Amino acid sequence: MSTPARRVVAAAFGGPEVLEVQEVDHPEPGPGQVRLSVRAAGVNPIDAKLYGGPGDDSNLPIELGFEAAGVVTAVGDGAADDQGPLSVGDEVIAFRVPGAYASELVVDGSALTRKPPSLGWDEAAVLMLSGATAVHALTATAVGEGDTVLVHGGAGGVGLYAVQLARLRGARVIATASEGSHDLLRGLGAEPVVYGDGLLERVQALAPNGVDAALDLVGTDEALDVSLALVPDRERVTTIAAFVRGQEEGVLLPGGPTAEAIRDAARPELARLAGEGRLGVVVARTYPLADAAEAHRQIATGHTTGKLALLP
Ligand SMILES: NC(=O)c1ccc[n+]([C@@H]2O[C@H](COP(=O)([O-])OP(=O)(O)OC[C@H]3O[C@@H](n4cnc5c(N)ncnc54)[C@H](OP(=O)(O)O)[C@@H]3O)[C@@H](O)[C@H]2O)c1
Repeated sequence: MSTPARRVVAAAFGGPEVLEVQEVDHPEPGPGQVRLSVRAAGVNPIDAKLYGGPGDDSNLPIELGFEAAGVVTAVGDGAADDQGPLSVGDEVIAFRVPGAYASELVVDGSALTRKPPSLGWDEAAVLMLSGATAVHALTATAVGEGDTVLVHGGAGGVGLYAVQLARLRGARVIATASEGSHDLLRGLGAEPVVYGDGLLERVQALAPNGVDAALDLVGTDEALDVSLALVPDRERVTTIAAFVRGQEEGVLLPGGPTAEAIRDAARPELARLAGEGRLGVVVARTYPLADAAEAHRQIATGHTTGKLALLP
């Protein structure tokens, strides 16, 4: 290995301009760990939030990224995942792993899921964080056969998985998005509505018999107001982005002791569904790892359709 490994970190608190590429030593796996040659890393809004506000300088530099896909290049003693012992050459998805914006990563075997051969590297890298969040939101609100569910932000990173997974559970899905994503949402079996003034009336017109559950994947007052007006049971409303208001209103929030277990347990099923083509993965755009700042400028718009991936 002649060229050094690379990673992207936030060198300061601020905007995307604080991101920098660093050269680092090739990491060596310890017991139970493997080293990956990363082929793609997933980009999520949380990555930018970690360095976006004022913070404690003693935490700098901040490693970024929580999910990646790659090839095993070294195996520590006893390293295994749910499929058994890991070997050099295995193609895997890593989630939840800190510092995934890197050309090489050392991860515990327990963070790995085998990559379905039919998935591209970029698709594999963006499946787990948003997918597991969607599974958790649908599980917490008990969405199932015969339900009508309202998904706010249906065309976003989490939203596109939530829409499809709700359909797979047998629910009718009404999803908010701007007009440009409506054909995409229709193709996934959802009924799209534009958000903004009059949203409540538009959803009522589509679902005169009511809405059983609502997922706020955006965090606006509108999303919570409309959800609370339509869904009689607050245990069937969740927000993954409006924590202060969500707590005041008594709706479900993503934390809690079972959250991580539900999300971790979702990984094999997400890989299976995506591998079989039953869960579509929409990659809006890929960027070279060194252009992570550009990807963060795009995510900051709040109007990305699908997911972004970085390619080392
Ligand atoms: N707590 C957790 O566990 C957790 C996990 C994952 C994500 N999150 C948070 O959840 C939020 C969404 O994450 P994400 O990855 O899905 O983000 P994202 O991909 O950046 O979401 C973009 C989507 O939001 C839609 N949107 C923007 N403004 C909207 C509005 N006023 N009403 C309805 N839809 C609107 C956009 O639709 P248009 O382009 O059509 O405008 C776009 O499809 C972020 O705040 C993220 O930090 C939380």
